[in-house]
Amino acid sequence: MNNLIDKGEQYLLHTYNRFPVVFEKGEGVRLYDICGKEYLDFFSGIGVNALGYGHKKYLYALHAQLDKLIHISNYFYTVPAVNAAEKFAKASGMDRVFFTNSGAEAVEGAIKLARKYAYEAGKKERTEIIAFNHSFHGRSIGAVSVTGTDSYREPFGPLLPGVKFAVYNDIQSVYELVNDRTCAVILETIQGEGGINTADREFFADIRKLCDDKDIVMIDDEVQCGMGRTGKMFAYQNYGVTPDVITSAKGIGNGVPVGAFACREKYAALKPGDHGSTYGGNPLVTAAVDSVLSIFEEEKILENVRESGDYLYEKLEDIFNEYDCVKEHRGMGLMQGLLLDCGVKDIIGKALDKGVVLISAGEKVIRFLPPLIIKKTDIDEMISVLMEVLA
Ligand SMILES: Cc1ncc(COP(=O)(O)O)c(C=O)c1O
Repeated sequence: MNNLIDKGEQYLLHTYNRFPVVFEKGEGVRLYDICGKEYLDFFSGIGVNALGYGHKKYLYALHAQLDKLIHISNYFYTVPAVNAAEKFAKASGMDRVFFTNSGAEAVEGAIKLARKYAYEAGKKERTEIIAFNHSFHGRSIGAVSVTGTDSYREPFGPLLPGVKFAVYNDIQSVYELVNDRTCAVILETIQGEGGINTADREFFADIRKLCDDKDIVMIDDEVQCGMGRTGKMFAYQNYGVTPDVITSAKGIGNGVPVGAFACREKYAALKPGDHGSTYGGNPLVTAAVDSVLSIFEEEKILENVRESGDYLYEKLEDIFNEYDCVKEHRGMGLMQGLLLDCGVKDIIGKALDKGVVLISAGEKVIRFLPPLIIKKTDIDEMISVLMEVLA
């Protein structure tokens, strides 16, 4: 294992401080490293592996598509792309879908769509975007431009002009920034990387109202909090509010690189020639999306998220009440976090040594993002390791 890690350090661009583990395979909610050590997964590859590892029906769908057609381009229709688009539109309450290769690319598309909508409406001056402090929308230049953490932005300027940052859950701060040049507001229903900050009901509804009143496009980035994580297909469905445009990725492909942005008909301003992607939504990845969406229904994944999510909430609430170092407990469903009064990197490293994979969100938050098939017994196992480590 150490030889491989040394080689990785030599040849991979050093953009991550990786943990010293080489994973080889997975089964259910368990991962195995190349030495055969077993780990319980509360990380799911940053919220991607919704169905865990080795899901038979999902793998069958991928294998079957591999044998038929991997790629053909968006100049033609394919059965998986059309079926996946229909299922995604129905699950999200959107009318039209564009498949991308990642979450960041979905955000790029959503920004272009909002600008084009204003342009088509004859309001070319409307190019500004309101985003939020502590948001995260990805690493491409447009996505970094709307990401509210200075360290992700500063070295890469000049970024998109006209992006302003409001305070999350403070509608007054949004009112202060909005003007006749605003074309979009972009927010996450639950901020993931920013520390598991959940939108208040009133705040979310106020954003909707503001966008309606001023004909501003409401873009909801559901890349991390969507696709079942909160117990609804998309997190905004907990709020009784529908955005104009959503972005999605991670869990929709369960591991193959696929994302999407989707919009209501009124906002479908991108026309032939305006946008594209060679790979985006190719038959292989959309066969994955189609299969994941079917499995969600057949295996009642959302019900499991609600049941296991409530149980995880109780258990983490106990920890919050018991340990002085835990300052806050946040989130919902299978997207929760504990804010500590110290950095959490060592805690996560120690849990890993003990066979539980966790993840941070910022410096001081332990983030819990297990596969959506996690059971109460797995939660008990994780909690007992977490308690040992915290002690
Ligand atoms: C809310 C949100 N948006 C966008 C992204 C970017 O997605 P990707 O890493 O697939 O480009 C992420 C990634 O963590 C995310 O959490």
